[in-house]
Amino acid sequence: MMTRIAIIGGTGALGLGLALRWAHAGLDIIIGSRRLESAMEARETVVRRIREHTGQQPRVDAAVNPDAAAQAGVVVLAVPFAQQQAVLSTVREHVLGKLVVDTTVPLVPPKVGTVQLPECGSAAVAAQLALGDATQVISAFHNVAADSLQSLGSLDCDVLVFGNEKQARERGLRLVEAAGMRAFEGGPLANSIAAEAMTSVLITINRQHKCHAGIRITGTEC
Ligand SMILES: NC(=O)c1ccc[n+]([C@@H]2O[C@H](COP(=O)([O-])OP(=O)(O)OC[C@H]3O[C@@H](n4cnc5c(N)ncnc54)[C@H](OP(=O)(O)O)[C@@H]3O)[C@@H](O)[C@H]2O)c1
Repeated sequence: MMTRIAIIGGTGALGLGLALRWAHAGLDIIIGSRRLESAMEARETVVRRIREHTGQQPRVDAAVNPDAAAQAGVVVLAVPFAQQQAVLSTVREHVLGKLVVDTTVPLVPPKVGTVQLPECGSAAVAAQLALGDATQVISAFHNVAADSLQSLGSLDCDVLVFGNEKQARERGLRLVEAAGMRAFEGGPLANSIAAEAMTSVLITINRQHKCHAGIRITGTEC
């Protein structure tokens, strides 16, 4: 059985989408927010949507971010890039020795259709540097649209998972698959730069075609 998953920023577009998908798959999740009231509202949304879809009661709880991180074995970070470091500092001590899944794309408004990467290379590397070596960071979900996740319909996209340890990447693959998508290992955390940069390309496509574009890995069946 999978360990409990905390979603820091689980009230937001991506975090709520992941919460819905994992709750739908029967995983045990806890939604984190800066405000307990917001986390509880998001929890109610998940409970209502999952009951409507499956008739089942999902395993979902709510807490402020540091408490959510403390109560979980896997901690997913789903906050805007501008807030990544500040939010990490509020959960740092509670994620020591745990697996952290960073979803951050280093978008710099207003030019979100232009690739603008941080000095250290990528948001994922920035998270690992902030948390230190005792905590294992992987990154994923950069190229999936929150709206598509929240729809709970079938998903026409793949997800790349980056991390320095194979075992950690494999845990990431299982989380992606539980959320209803195909997952591929993308290599070490340094490679996260590729998926993070791709998001601005997808945003450009979305604007032109009024869609929620994703990526597909082809040619893997040979
Ligand atoms: N949206 C997508 O389709 C998508 C796709 C792939 C990757 N991503 C990445 O996923 C991350 C989250 O994206 P999102 O669209 O879900 O973001 P969002 O909805 O704008 O924000 C997510 C959550 O971050 C928290 N937050 C916002 N401002 C904050 C602040 N000043 N300080 C601390 N926390 C703050 C809020 O939670 P509380 O107010 O409850 O604390 C908010 O609900 C981003 O890094 C994004 O690049 C997004």
